[in-house]
Amino acid sequence: MAALLNKPMLLFLSFAASLFLCCHFSEAALPRFHHPLKTDGSLSFLVVGDWGRKGLFNQSKVASQMGIIGEKLDIDFVISTGDNFYEDGLMGINDYAFYDSFSNIYTAPSLQKTWYSVLGNHDYRGDVEAQMSPILREKDKRWVCMRSFILNADIVEFFFVDTTPFVDKYFTDPGDNVYDWKGVLPRNNYLSNLLNDVDLALKSSSAIWKIVVGHHTIKSAGQHGITEELVVNLLPILQANNVDVYMNGHDHCLEHISCSKSKIEFLTSGGGSKAWRGNVKEWNPEEMKFYYDGQGFMSVQLDEAKANFVYYDVFGEVLHQFMVSKEFHSTS
Ligand SMILES: *[C@@H]1O[C@H](CO)[C@@H](O)[C@H](O)[C@H]1NC(C)=O
Repeated sequence: MAALLNKPMLLFLSFAASLFLCCHFSEAALPRFHHPLKTDGSLSFLVVGDWGRKGLFNQSKVASQMGIIGEKLDIDFVISTGDNFYEDGLMGINDYAFYDSFSNIYTAPSLQKTWYSVLGNHDYRGDVEAQMSPILREKDKRWVCMRSFILNADIVEFFFVDTTPFVDKYFTDPGDNVYDWKGVLPRNNYLSNLLNDVDLALKSSSAIWKIVVGHHTIKSAGQHGITEELVVNLLPILQANNVDVYMNGHDHCLEHISCSKSKIEFLTSGGGSKAWRGNVKEWNPEEMKFYYDGQGFMSVQLDEAKANFVYYDVFGEVLHQFMVSKEFHSTS
């Protein structure tokens, strides 16, 4: 598998990036949203992935616990890490799966907040544009799904990255699956523009916390394991820009890996429905803080000094939690 960007290309990109920055083109091309903090300056949200199965495989149980925890934490929104509709995304804007797997499942009052969603590889097997259509937002105003976008909440900035087009095998060895690459081709242009946009957006961010969200794993011991294409192309950008957290789905598990080589926390929340795959790869125990092969979801509560991450199972039991603190460097 070849790296998507060769050295001269990277040099050119960083040259172009610095040119852009010096000319005050600090706004990246990615769509931007803003979400206000609570009056106490904090923010809380849930993270769920790999869910849309019409309530089956414990999706409904996960949903009802999300409702309870969501209420307890007074969440501001929900993040979906993709694979929103199984098996093959949505067939069109009138696909009833949108109700069967989303609107009629996440019915708790606390979950009637915006759902910021990326696309997973299964979503790409359906009508991608339908899933991103504003008409879906008319059907259920919670639904915000785009390929890549930025969510700014003052102290924290989220960078949602469309990871499916990075994965070589969907192009070279799709098997019986048909992917909807409309809007993604030519692929190399799409990917280099996206990487450039993410890099620029990260560089121009003044948020205390930087959280990147994608569907595919960067570090994972699950069935899919690491996504080599993201390790090669996306990870260096995250490392160069002091990203705090990378959150993903794809592996149907809950997982927390702390990398010894960087300060990025790698969190997998892909337990929204079908799980229990039972095959866990070996991983350095120093880095592997938590792995759970069953269903569940995550909550995050943060303010400018600390971020608290909690993992829950289908009973709402806490399986794992950890906190990250920020050191403040006084400028006076
Ligand atoms: C639902 O969750 C329970 C508790 O974790 C588990 O034992 C059961 O296997 C799950 N069912 C399915 C279909 O995954």
